[in-house]
Amino acid sequence: MQALRTRRFGQESLFFEEIDSTNRWLLANEELFRLSGATVVADHQTAGRGRYGRQWHDTQGKSLLFSVLLRPESKASPLGLLSLMAGAAVAHAIGRIDSHFSEKLRLKWPNDVLIDGRKVAGILVESISAGTRSCAVIGVGVNLRQSEDELPKATRWPASSLQMLSANPVSREDLAAEILNDLEAAYDLFQEGRTVELIDPWASLSLPLGTELAVESGGSVIKGIYAGVGTEGQLLLKGTDGTLHGIHSGEILWKDTCDE
Ligand code: BTN
Repeated sequence: MQALRTRRFGQESLFFEEIDSTNRWLLANEELFRLSGATVVADHQTAGRGRYGRQWHDTQGKSLLFSVLLRPESKASPLGLLSLMAGAAVAHAIGRIDSHFSEKLRLKWPNDVLIDGRKVAGILVESISAGTRSCAVIGVGVNLRQSEDELPKATRWPASSLQMLSANPVSREDLAAEILNDLEAAYDLFQEGRTVELIDPWASLSLPLGTELAVESGGSVIKGIYAGVGTEGQLLLKGTDGTLHGIHSGEILWKDTCDE
């Protein structure tokens, strides 16, 4: 990856033409890598994992699919911020690779990357801790070259690919390098506990404050007004009765102005 300017992220990397899931593989083999930044890239996943136990589908060679290993220090920021951090890195990297996208990019909490209201990238952060060892992986899937009929249809938010949205072809290598450059810089902030600097790039692409939202969390649906995110990355939602909810895990079901 020529555009890679990192110290560690992506410097140790493995490529699989086909694998079940880069996240699963990296979590299962984490002991092979001592430091943060080891990266596993695949051309195709047969059992790609999405959030909430869903599958993440791809067509061979048409997506960017990779996972990065992290070994957060105990004094680092809360793990919930990793999700936001990764979403911001992916979105800003896409905007830099093709400036045509920069005005149209939005982040849907916690980390879905949308262009013109259509999901082009998903991120799954998974962590394990066994005894004194703990690690996390950030898994990134970007739809690059799929056509409409190669994308899943039964999704809550419509999916799209970068190729469907811009005439400029995006190089998979260059995009991977740009994302890894951003991720490493953001992870340095994460390790130093610099929460505000971590949240700002995410917030700059998030929904406008005051957007009406419905969020599914823990089996129930909470409706309210979007009031930003908290220092642990939790979604803040002001309910109709004025209660401020801090939602650590959940999914936004709808919005009224996010793709304006
Ligand atoms: C989502 O939006 O549901 C998250 C999708 C995350 C997909 C990526 S692809 C690379 C990595 N390996 C996986 O199995 N999942 C993530």
